[in-house]
Amino acid sequence: MENQNNQLNQRLRLIFATNNQHKVDEIKVVIGDQFNVVTLKDAGIDIDIPEPHDTLEANATEKSTTIHRLTGDNVFSEDTGLEVAALNGEPGVKSARYAGEGRDFQANIDKLLANLEGIVDRKAQFRAVISLILNNQEYLFEGICGGEIITQQKGLKGFGYDPVFVPIGSDKTFAEMTIEEKNQFSHRKKATDKLIAFLKSQQS
Ligand code: IMP
Repeated sequence: MENQNNQLNQRLRLIFATNNQHKVDEIKVVIGDQFNVVTLKDAGIDIDIPEPHDTLEANATEKSTTIHRLTGDNVFSEDTGLEVAALNGEPGVKSARYAGEGRDFQANIDKLLANLEGIVDRKAQFRAVISLILNNQEYLFEGICGGEIITQQKGLKGFGYDPVFVPIGSDKTFAEMTIEEKNQFSHRKKATDKLIAFLKSQQS
């Protein structure tokens, strides 16, 4: 027991600067107990972090630096956009607020499907950017998942655009997959793998 406690104490502690529980659940499955990931809620921080910039990188940096300034702790954040080829990369950095400030998942899907009506090229990708602040220095990691937007939503799991996104290599939408299945394809998993590899390289 004491050994186990010592091991827990030695794990690197990182605050994950998000209020999105879906992201926390997905990332915790990937990181497991390799690092001590603390959510904003666990850290007692109740803040709606702004995402005012026009790139995923700048928004990810905004989130991690906001929490780093508040706490001085090691922090990571993640910002994701859905980039649709036929819409010139939209909704992209505006993915959360595509249909308005309400950040309504269903309204965003409705707007996306309306904008793609009659369009044959449905290619899209999710792009996730993780910003890590470790020992006061920032590092960025990217993960991309290619796929397509289907015409009618399917599945009830996940969040955001999951019911209309089918990744390359599957015939299911993300919303029809368990977290473990989604992680076989996901942008967030790929970016998190890079984060983990980097953190491990810093420890050895
Ligand atoms: P943000 O990274 O929290 O700004 O997320 C932007 C928006 O992209 C979210 O509100 C979701 O609508 C969407 N989004 C981000 N990640 C995913 C995902 O893994 N699946 C589906 N939609 C996502």
